[in-house]
Amino acid sequence: MKHFKQWFKTRRIGVLMGGLSAEREISLKTGRAIYQSLKRQGFSVVVIDAKTELPAQLKRARVNFGYIALHGPGGEDGVVQGLLEWMKIPYTGSGVMASALAMDKAASKKLFEAAGLPTAKWKAIKKTDVHARANPPLPFPFVVKPASQGSAVGVTIVRSAKQWPAALRTAFRYDSTALVETFLQGPEITVGILGAQALPVIEILPQHDRPFYDFHAKYAPGGSRHILPARISKAQAAESARLSLVACAALGTRGVARVDLIVDKKRGPMLLEVNTIPGMTETSLLPEAAAAAGISFDLLVCRIAEASVGC
Ligand SMILES: Nc1ncnc2c1ncn2[C@@H]1O[C@H](COP(=O)(O)OP(=O)(O)O)[C@@H](O)[C@H]1O
Ligand SMILES: [Mg+2]
Repeated sequence: MKHFKQWFKTRRIGVLMGGLSAEREISLKTGRAIYQSLKRQGFSVVVIDAKTELPAQLKRARVNFGYIALHGPGGEDGVVQGLLEWMKIPYTGSGVMASALAMDKAASKKLFEAAGLPTAKWKAIKKTDVHARANPPLPFPFVVKPASQGSAVGVTIVRSAKQWPAALRTAFRYDSTALVETFLQGPEITVGILGAQALPVIEILPQHDRPFYDFHAKYAPGGSRHILPARISKAQAAESARLSLVACAALGTRGVARVDLIVDKKRGPMLLEVNTIPGMTETSLLPEAAAAAGISFDLLVCRIAEASVGC
């Protein structure tokens, strides 16, 4: 860490935030928290609101390290990562391929299955496939979601045939491929991954009037409760941590990630997805898990950068 900190001090850090995705507002919050932490710690840091002229913005600000605080398509899917590779600017988090794989839930699930990891039964449906769209492909209840989004944007739980067309339309607003997934029943948990370490498991409890952990539950004050440690058995917690590490290895993530799972009543911990750029606001899950492991927010911000460049 000492050696890394010395190197990091020589950098001009650009915190890339905002961007053009549906998660812009969350990204701005995450970015500001990271910016303030770096500033507080005496690093040379600038805010970069990632717009279409991003290469010029980076050049103008003489950025030579990218701290990526973007969420969703464009920022979390390998696109910005590719740009930074092209400009030879080191950056936080996963590289191009792992970012793209993690953002695409169909690609992720194929890799989970190839690695023998448990994940809900699923089918992918293309917007153009009129035949596949006609009939629900799995027994009810199931979940319909866009293949590539975050923050539960465009997700619907479908319990009857009546809900099917609208659920598909909602998902297709965000992506040309929708994922249909068997509904899992049980506590929802998330596992932060920092370098090679799995952080304590957090349980997420949506408010009573919310059917699941949706956008509102995630970000509105009091929209959901975080329970730490999660109310699952020690064996289930250990298994969830193990599955999360293997899932990250299967995708090839780097530095940091947050893995979402549901501990299904019948089948135990099942993988939902891997987030390669977890939220870092004051109510976010990753900083909370880190704190439980004795890692302060400022230390977390540094450790993410360190684990990403492998100094
Ligand atoms: N198969 C499933 N069974 C039950 N709930 C689900 C399932 N898939 C998703 N959900 C609910 O929808 C939320 C968002 O789904 P997720 O796959 O994590 O996508 P993202 O967070 O990228 O939008 C989850 O946090 C969970 O509450
Ligand atoms: Mg999720």
